[in-house]
Amino acid sequence: MPNKMKPKTNPNNAHALAQSERAVNSHRRTASESAKPTLSRSLASKSAWPQLSAKTKSVASTQVRLNKFLASAGIASRRKADEMIQNGEVEVNGKLVTELGFKVNPEKDKVVAAGRIVTLHRRKIYILLNKPKDAISTTHDERDRRTVMDFIDIDERVYTVGRLDRNTTGALLLTNDGDLAHRLMHPSFGVPKEYLAELDKKITRADLQKLKSGLRLSDTGEKTSECEAEILGDGTYVWLKLHEGKNRQVHRMFWTLGYDVKKLDRVSYAGLTTKGLRRGQWRNLLPKEIEHLRKMVERETKT
Ligand code: URA
Repeated sequence: MPNKMKPKTNPNNAHALAQSERAVNSHRRTASESAKPTLSRSLASKSAWPQLSAKTKSVASTQVRLNKFLASAGIASRRKADEMIQNGEVEVNGKLVTELGFKVNPEKDKVVAAGRIVTLHRRKIYILLNKPKDAISTTHDERDRRTVMDFIDIDERVYTVGRLDRNTTGALLLTNDGDLAHRLMHPSFGVPKEYLAELDKKITRADLQKLKSGLRLSDTGEKTSECEAEILGDGTYVWLKLHEGKNRQVHRMFWTLGYDVKKLDRVSYAGLTTKGLRRGQWRNLLPKEIEHLRKMVERETKT
């Protein structure tokens, strides 16, 4: 038996979360406000997604464009799929296809991309997990540590949309919709993420202003973008709304200013909150929530 802990069902920190929810509601922006106009980097560049889909049954019965088929299977964004096609990396029924706009029948045609067979997932799954502490944001861990998949009892294979640190709690999306996941993770869409951080000491107004204006991270010198931030409670809680996701960004922003983050909770991702979910609990997204995510990242991508 793997040495893993049972999922926890701790109630949330009611006081801090009530405060954060108030802050969240008072700062909520629409999806269209948060979208930004240009794409600068490859959609797949920061992705933890596997190159090929693991599920093997296809469902569509009509012809679809090859780039859309590849995107639906989680191979790459449509734009990247076009590049793969043009670069001669895609075969259909044993023949190289370099024509953009080529159509395939997902039921019948055998598509091979970068040397491996591509198949569609049977059904799309969209899950919101309230991630507990001490769980890593991968689907499999070679060292047999507890992963987020230990909390989700489904047979289908899903992947995390981005990552949370092992001890960060809160909203984490999992899906087998590679195209949507790539888009949500792409920095150019500026998908909003709200956090509640508990600090080792009270933050000053001057430091709060530095967080809001954007600062240069002390370890790498990267510049953070402007964000929204508010002091909560006695001054040791800070609510933040970011539109970017540099590695361990919240911790590093506070370290730069001389604070330690004792606890970090992501109270919402792309407008989806963990309200009603205890730590370790998950739910399928509602159709209107999936639609909301699609709208947030719906424009065609450009490199
Ligand atoms: N920022 C962090 O420092 N950690 C996370 O898990 C997410 C954002």
